[in-house]
Amino acid sequence: MLTPQGKKKALVWVSRTYGRHKSESLPSAYDLALASQIEQLPVSSWHPNEVIDPVGYSAKLAQLEAKAISEVTAFLSHRNLIIFSSLLAEIRLQVSPEIQNACIYALTGIFTVVSERQGYFGGGGGMSGNLYMPIVRMERNIFDCLRRKLNRLTKAEERKQQYYSSGKAKVIVTTQSSHSLPLIPTNSIDYIYTDPPFGANIIYSEMNLLLESWLQVKTSQKAEIVINEARGIDLADYQAMLGAALSEFYRILKPDRWLTLEFHNTKAVIWNVVQQVLEAVGFVVAHVGLLDKGSSTILQDIRDGAVYQDLLISAYKPTSQLKHLAALNPDPTETVWDFVQDYLAKLPAPAQSADLEERRGYRLYNRMLALHLRQGRAISLSATEFYAGLNRHFVEIEGAYFLPEK
Ligand SMILES: C[S@@+](CC[C@H](N)C(=O)[O-])C[C@H]1O[C@@H](n2cnc3c(N)ncnc32)[C@H](O)[C@@H]1O
Repeated sequence: MLTPQGKKKALVWVSRTYGRHKSESLPSAYDLALASQIEQLPVSSWHPNEVIDPVGYSAKLAQLEAKAISEVTAFLSHRNLIIFSSLLAEIRLQVSPEIQNACIYALTGIFTVVSERQGYFGGGGGMSGNLYMPIVRMERNIFDCLRRKLNRLTKAEERKQQYYSSGKAKVIVTTQSSHSLPLIPTNSIDYIYTDPPFGANIIYSEMNLLLESWLQVKTSQKAEIVINEARGIDLADYQAMLGAALSEFYRILKPDRWLTLEFHNTKAVIWNVVQQVLEAVGFVVAHVGLLDKGSSTILQDIRDGAVYQDLLISAYKPTSQLKHLAALNPDPTETVWDFVQDYLAKLPAPAQSADLEERRGYRLYNRMLALHLRQGRAISLSATEFYAGLNRHFVEIEGAYFLPEK
């Protein structure tokens, strides 16, 4: 509501439910008096007093300064701030750490839907990846949301227990920067699926501050893989940090095993950096596919340059046997066909014509060159000699190459 003192929040619509009975109306004098009385109540339980950096990328994007929003507590209505903080205080009194953690998990799990980021016109918990607060907000009832969350979590917990008791699952969840994973031995992991930050669109540490300030545990911005002009972190920094994480992944993955990297950027420059980094740390990129998530998000509908479909990059760590052969063989051209043989053997059987691309001569030539350059081995084969050799060693079908036995 626009007032002579600036923008102010006002109660404009009341939705009541009593059992199965539901009614909606303009606020009565009683409703308005009650709302104003609630605004005067003190917040007696502990709550964070973190200030949001007004020149941070996310604060600027959501125009928080113009809206006079400077503290994380502003992301809850006054009533929900009182309830949220008192529930957290109750939880902290629990003696059992397991129960405390489970309750904190449930409570923080409803934060976005009970926050001021919840718009009246829908969208569960506001626009993702953004600190935007809608003009017309809906104050959700924390107790209702918590009951629903607890129901879902209880069911999930039952299924988890069944899975655990079947003896199939050995799950460890840890949180640390992927730049350094010293507890994971070299060559010990069978498969890696990773969804790294994709450049500048979302500054996760700033998004996380809303909850992390309640949890009193903060993401280290120093290790955050991101491009953030507001903090002077550019594409070269992003490339170096992504490289540090992917080389740890390369170290822990068993040879001959695969990594899938989900990626969502429409900018070619970032896309190239991701591929360069993968190859520079030693992975062989073997396939790029599309991940269709079904529907677009609000963000995808409105933000310029937003991502429409995610890409899935499949890459593998080449066998140590290949490296061994390369080390033994003084003539680098001899290892060219070992590499192509190994590479073709790893590619999935093509399901559609797009899958043939990775088997084309020019693509195989580029992959082979990249591998040899990385190993610091000069290649004396010209592209023409390479294509002629391909035809001698492999079977060509519609311009794509296959191993003889396939
Ligand atoms: C695209 S998101 C992944 C989202 C995740 N797949 C999900 O559905 O919740 C990228 C994540 O990488 C995290 N991240 C950024 N730098 C990191 C680092 N150095 N080590 C580990 N994670 C990092 C970000 O905080 C963010 O949560």
